[in-house]
Amino acid sequence: MRIKVDNLSFGYDYRTVLKNVTFSLESGDFLVIVGNNGSGKSTLIKCLLGINRVPDDKIFIDDIEIHDYRQWINIGYVPQKFDDFNYEFPITVNEILTVSKLTKIDEDQKLSILDRIGILELQNENINSLSGGQLQRVFIARALMNGPKLLVLDEPTAGVDSENIDNFYRMVNDLNAEGVTIILISHDVKTTKANFSHIMHLENGKAELTHVCEIDFGGDAS
Ligand SMILES: Nc1ncnc2c1ncn2[C@@H]1O[C@H](COP(=O)(O)OP(=O)(O)O)[C@@H](O)[C@H]1O
Ligand SMILES: [Mg+2]
Repeated sequence: MRIKVDNLSFGYDYRTVLKNVTFSLESGDFLVIVGNNGSGKSTLIKCLLGINRVPDDKIFIDDIEIHDYRQWINIGYVPQKFDDFNYEFPITVNEILTVSKLTKIDEDQKLSILDRIGILELQNENINSLSGGQLQRVFIARALMNGPKLLVLDEPTAGVDSENIDNFYRMVNDLNAEGVTIILISHDVKTTKANFSHIMHLENGKAELTHVCEIDFGGDAS
């Protein structure tokens, strides 16, 4: 999926969070966004997802102006945190994964996604009984259900244990190798095992995008 952001500024009330952000991604790119807490990482992706209302002609998805874009089913999104997540009524993992009427995949494909994410055995659990890391993985599975062309992950490994973090990055790297465009927010890029192609540093509202081959990791490129 192609993304183009052209001179985007965005703020809440009177405070500007993003200043003149410009970048573009091609299909199959893998962007990691890093920056301090409060630097605007989540704000930027909420602009890309149509959650934050932006001015006209600032964002284009597959060359379509964002306000005219309708194919949201092609985008999988895992939001940042679930601390306050609570369902008022009992619902199982399986039910939350199949509740979307847009779901295009069949039962076998669903099971293979659950297996890939390591939550096959959680299918019939009450969603309220899961740990934070398990819930995170359920939402990752949910984001994959419609076979996204773009996957947006906002600090997706917070609260996930290290073994599952490895599995998670393996899966994300595989999806990217299969052609899925990825945008991943991470607060610590050096510890990620992501095979990213681009990295963006957000600081004081300014975004700087670098193609990964231009980065000098000081000999530690892993
Ligand atoms: N809905 C909102 N209303 C007002 N201010 C917000 C809102 N969401 C985020 N902010 C503020 O915008 C700034 C950027 O937040 P955020 O994009 O969440 O940063 P990050 O994800 O990089 O930690 C912060 O100062 C935050 O307090
Ligand atoms: Mg954030």
